[in-house]
Amino acid sequence: MKLLIIFAISAVLLQYHGSIQTKLPKELSNYELLGTRFHHGSISDVEKAKIKRTGEQVAIKITSTKTIKIKTKQDQSKEKLIQKQIEMAHEEAKILENLLLHPHKNIVQFKEFIETEENLYLVMEYVSGVTVHEYLQENKLGGNEARVIFIQVVKAIKHCHDNGIVHRDLKTENVILLYADRINNHIKLIDFGFATNLTGGVLLHDYSRSPRFAAPEVETSEKLKSEYDGFKSDIWTLGAFLYELVCGKWPGSDSIFKHGSEEIDFPPYSEMTDGVKDLLHNILKIDPNERFTLDEIMKHDWMKTRG
Ligand SMILES: Nc1ncnc2c1ncn2[C@@H]1O[C@H](COP(=O)(O)OP(=O)(O)O)[C@@H](O)[C@H]1O
Ligand SMILES: [Mg+2]
Repeated sequence: MKLLIIFAISAVLLQYHGSIQTKLPKELSNYELLGTRFHHGSISDVEKAKIKRTGEQVAIKITSTKTIKIKTKQDQSKEKLIQKQIEMAHEEAKILENLLLHPHKNIVQFKEFIETEENLYLVMEYVSGVTVHEYLQENKLGGNEARVIFIQVVKAIKHCHDNGIVHRDLKTENVILLYADRINNHIKLIDFGFATNLTGGVLLHDYSRSPRFAAPEVETSEKLKSEYDGFKSDIWTLGAFLYELVCGKWPGSDSIFKHGSEEIDFPPYSEMTDGVKDLLHNILKIDPNERFTLDEIMKHDWMKTRG
């Protein structure tokens, strides 16, 4: 079912991507596109641009708001998906704008949100680097490198949670490793497209798709229409993130456990230390109530060791 939904969203949006401009409208006359589209995604395009007056580079996430004339039943469901996308793009901008009041060095910074008749434009700081996912295609991380990256991601997620925000789409594709500060492995968390503000509550049920690192209860909630704790499901995604950092690839929530048990099946070639294995065992708990909290993760021995 979820694959079908992802496919449907992608198909609808690809159809409308043709309408996304390569030139910016007058409402964005302060900016100039630099001709680098670094992303042509299922949900939106991300373009590199600069502020004309200062030359500062920015990233602009463009979501088409073009709707279709409702004719057939199929068109109606397409229309619903587009409306959902538009709502989510508004929510993403609102969350990032609110985070400006409490900026964090590991979270991408909001600049401006502009709505035109055709598109929504989310202008952000440009993060010059490579996604951790891309980096892992070519490189294997040592324990220290993995730890330095992971600590910053935990801090970024903690900052979100402290501000009532659940990210819901943490994965290696949504973390950028900065070129400029490569020596310190400085990272920034991006893509708040599925984030939501849970101030005053913890439970979620609506999900329009299941992300790559989704917690088991998130996948179940889709089928059973049940509620889940958004903060705890983010913690599972931290485990999946760490697994991919140290093993190179996340095989999926169903495939990581040894057959019929809750013991994690690590790849045979992995040179992981017992410390990181223990941490992963404590984060990747099927029962969300047994999962480590963010504070417990930060206090775990592996987070403090070297080597
Ligand atoms: N602020 C940014 N600076 C630099 N690159 C970015 C920025 N935001 C997004 N990108 C690039 O665009 C890609 C897609 O952006 P993202 O927000 O993750 O959109 P999607 O929701 O389609 O996944 C990222 O993986 C990254 O390569
Ligand atoms: Mg993304």
